[in-house]
Amino acid sequence: MKRGSVALTNIGQLVTNDPQRPGLLGVEENAAVVIEDGLISWIGASGDAPEAPITLDCEARAVVPGFVDPHTHLVFAGDRADEFGRRLRGETYEEIMAAGGGISATVNATRKASLSTLTDQTLGRARRMQAAGTTTVEVKSGYGLDVEHEKRLLAVAAVAGSAVALDVVLTFLGAHTVPYEFAGDQDAYVEYVIDAALPECAPMARFCDVFCDEGVFTVDQARRVLKAGQQHGLVPRLHANQLAHSGGVELAIELGAASADHLDHLSDDNINALAESDTVAVLLPGVSLSLRLPQARGRDLWDAGATVALGTDCNPGTSNIETMPFVIALACLEMGLSPEQAVWSATRGGALALGLEDRGQVVEGSQGDLVVLDHPSYVHLAYQPDSPAVASVIKRGLVVD
Ligand code: NIG
Ligand code: FE
Repeated sequence: MKRGSVALTNIGQLVTNDPQRPGLLGVEENAAVVIEDGLISWIGASGDAPEAPITLDCEARAVVPGFVDPHTHLVFAGDRADEFGRRLRGETYEEIMAAGGGISATVNATRKASLSTLTDQTLGRARRMQAAGTTTVEVKSGYGLDVEHEKRLLAVAAVAGSAVALDVVLTFLGAHTVPYEFAGDQDAYVEYVIDAALPECAPMARFCDVFCDEGVFTVDQARRVLKAGQQHGLVPRLHANQLAHSGGVELAIELGAASADHLDHLSDDNINALAESDTVAVLLPGVSLSLRLPQARGRDLWDAGATVALGTDCNPGTSNIETMPFVIALACLEMGLSPEQAVWSATRGGALALGLEDRGQVVEGSQGDLVVLDHPSYVHLAYQPDSPAVASVIKRGLVVD
């Protein structure tokens, strides 16, 4: 397919996220957008749109920037429906994890899976995400937990991204849990991550993450891994304060992490500190939904002035959820964000959480990643949470769905 220019005309409501335009979302009505060589080249009134070889009439639908999902564990084999059922019958995530289930169960299934099974399953998820409007996705390793298998996960994620024209940003999450080979010797596993896994995996990834929480890795262990990652050129991000007030937020800010993710346990001080920092607060409402726990304080983070992003946290344990429109609906209906906050967080917020200034907005020169909603307004994403949300997906000027 040739990447010529394409015009989207007759857009009923265009979300630009351009701070020069009105409101948080910089909405323009009756608009058109032209994409040339993959980049946005023109935005204006629909009647003024310049000629383009390909024109897509949006028939008064709403158009938003492509969704940027900044937190997924996309590459895994098997499922954990059994644990999900046990939780609904009364056990907790922590109890199941302490009894050898949880992440370790998926590590076993993922290590055993053939390359083609792992690739097929990952591709399926990537395709479904893209069909629902995700145009950039972060993918973590973390179900391999040894050099060979962590590298395999990162490679599978990269292949899946290029196969479906979805930009994949890779994160090394060797410190996700302690594998059985190191059972009872967490410090030895941290040494292994730093000395053996990081040097091999870092060239494949952009970010380094650690599951820093009660019963998982301590703040000191997480600091050591993330600092070692920085020495290999990886930018830190962190699973922080998911299960408890674990000190993860303070560590993320101390290290200038790109993001602190989950944040289900936040003090007022944590919220103010995040608001004063450059660390993006990544919220994952699908996790609280799936674990039937209270949602993170998203509204308070917004009110304090923090930069907030939303992600699926797609994984087989705590959030078997793939699509950003559903996450936007949850953020509004369960977490209490306004539709504007939720849409901004799912687009520009996600881009900033990944350090990608070139997307998540519709301004001249930004990536030509757009979603034509099958709705007249972005508010319908929360208003009609179970209806198909997307009419077309455009990735760098190509209609990919
Ligand atoms: O983001 N918190 C750590 N990791 C995942 C859970 C992964 C799993 O349970 O398999 C999460 O919730
Ligand atoms: Fe996660």
